Amino acid sequence: MKPVNVGLLGLGTVGGGTVNVLSRNANEITRRAGRPIHIVKASARDLSRPRICDTTGIEVTSDPFAVVNDPNIDVIVELIGGNELALELVKKAIANGKHVVTANKALIALNGNELFALAQEKGVMVAFEAAVAGGIPIIKAIREGLAGNRIEWLAGIINGTSNFILTEMRDKGREFAAVLKEAQTLGYAEADPKFDVEGIDAAHKLTILASIAFGIPLQFDRIYTEGISRVRREDVSYAEQLGYRIKHLGIARRTSAGIELRVHPTLIPYRRLIANVDGVMNAVLVKSDAVGPTLYYGAGAGADPTASAVVADLVDVVRTLTTDPENRVPHLAFQPAAISDIPILPMAEVETAYYLRMEAADKPGVLADVTRIFGDQDISIEAILQKEPPVENVGTVSVIMLSQVVKEKRMNEALKRIERLDSIKGKVIRIRRENLG
Ligand code: HSE
Repeated sequence: MKPVNVGLLGLGTVGGGTVNVLSRNANEITRRAGRPIHIVKASARDLSRPRICDTTGIEVTSDPFAVVNDPNIDVIVELIGGNELALELVKKAIANGKHVVTANKALIALNGNELFALAQEKGVMVAFEAAVAGGIPIIKAIREGLAGNRIEWLAGIINGTSNFILTEMRDKGREFAAVLKEAQTLGYAEADPKFDVEGIDAAHKLTILASIAFGIPLQFDRIYTEGISRVRREDVSYAEQLGYRIKHLGIARRTSAGIELRVHPTLIPYRRLIANVDGVMNAVLVKSDAVGPTLYYGAGAGADPTASAVVADLVDVVRTLTTDPENRVPHLAFQPAAISDIPILPMAEVETAYYLRMEAADKPGVLADVTRIFGDQDISIEAILQKEPPVENVGTVSVIMLSQVVKEKRMNEALKRIERLDSIKGKVIRIRRENLG
């Protein structure tokens, strides 16, 4: 059977992993796809760099356009990341009538609406399983496996670097910077690690998940985004004492007023399975009406795990090469004409519970002032914990509170008033809290 010729853009961690997996499992993959899949040409920015894969038999070039313009190539695999050159290359590949497989979450989150329309016109596929949660087949699970359900909400640990850092802070008391450096060495972190620790990478992935879960356009700019860079070790430890773990979550929830789209550190009851997803591992919990909750767990980054998703997409593309483009699985799970513009809720309207920590003067009446302000805003407090002051901070105490569920704008108002009290030092630390029940 005639092989399918693939052009690979990028021979770094995921590109190298893809070459390795395709060659190691060539037999099994051919049995599944029905045709051998051959990488015939690959581009790399720096040809002299050592590789994690054997490129024998692959024509390697430093010019990615030589790959997308090669008439012998049927499918382009884009693994260079970023969204300028990648966008240009993917558009060129589509214009040349080639199918595209990509692991590029920024590209899909920011340009997916346009790319899918172009692909639709040309009758080609743009597959992106590897863009979310690395090796976990979460796109396929939501788009195809849950197609009979109305999805209510999903919550995911979708940035391995942040999860790795939070886990090391909790288990070993390690410093943020040292753990981040290790994640970079291990090849988990983004080229610019701010994307990991400021939540941008997770927001890219949540954009994609929300779109295929609810049939809405990709709307990266509507996501509330907060990373883990301000999470302190003491908060991780106080959360533990109250029965919670802090995880960096991407949450998309359908409510009667609109859809919540938010990425932020979150306290979750420690008994939840997802609260026990540690290290670089990812997990996505999906709550749907028919099947109930389902949890998808696995490696969210790294060479072979991400290559696993890239190769699965390649097999999918090969299987559908001969099918009528109108009858393929739609890029965003719902038929393009059925994508609906359900409103996205502003963060002020989102309802959630909170963990709060404030540094308060150690004198009578302070707690009464604070609780009065909460009372005025109709905010119920569920638990209060008071800690000894650190030696350098004699005269103040750390007060930790858990609030019940409240609209964010009411909490904003209460915190503004509390921070104005003379007896409260600095800003109140707030971390949102979800039950995920
Ligand atoms: N930087 C990403 C992470 C890589 O840490 O999850 C996988 O997308």
